Amino acid sequence: MAKTELREIYRCEICGNVVEIVNTGAPALVCCGKPMNKLTPKSGDEGKEKHTPVIEELGDDKIIVKIGSVPHPMENDHYIVFIEVMTEREVFRRELKPGENPSAMFNIKKSEVKEVREYCNKHMLWKA
Ligand SMILES: [Fe+2]
Repeated sequence: MAKTELREIYRCEICGNVVEIVNTGAPALVCCGKPMNKLTPKSGDEGKEKHTPVIEELGDDKIIVKIGSVPHPMENDHYIVFIEVMTEREVFRRELKPGENPSAMFNIKKSEVKEVREYCNKHMLWKA
């Protein structure tokens, strides 16, 4: 039987709810009476805004993740909602607000990072 996968992200296109799978089950998530869409992280660049996370090592086992190579807008109607850094067994999520910098620091070694992704309220999910 098909199942969801750990860490998959689903979105309701009607109300904007976004959920992350923290335990697998049936691939049958429903919101507002409709199946939720599984978001596949995009990479590369599209349009004039840059969305791909850029990871920099800071020393002392810290990294900073910036969105993106040119800072992404952080306006009320268009901003980076969160940045996630994933290791083999951990998921770190930094939530962001309009007006803040589109970046986040994490106490983690760059060598442990398996994937980095970010969610833009307009352009959805992106990964490094
Ligand atoms: Fe965007």
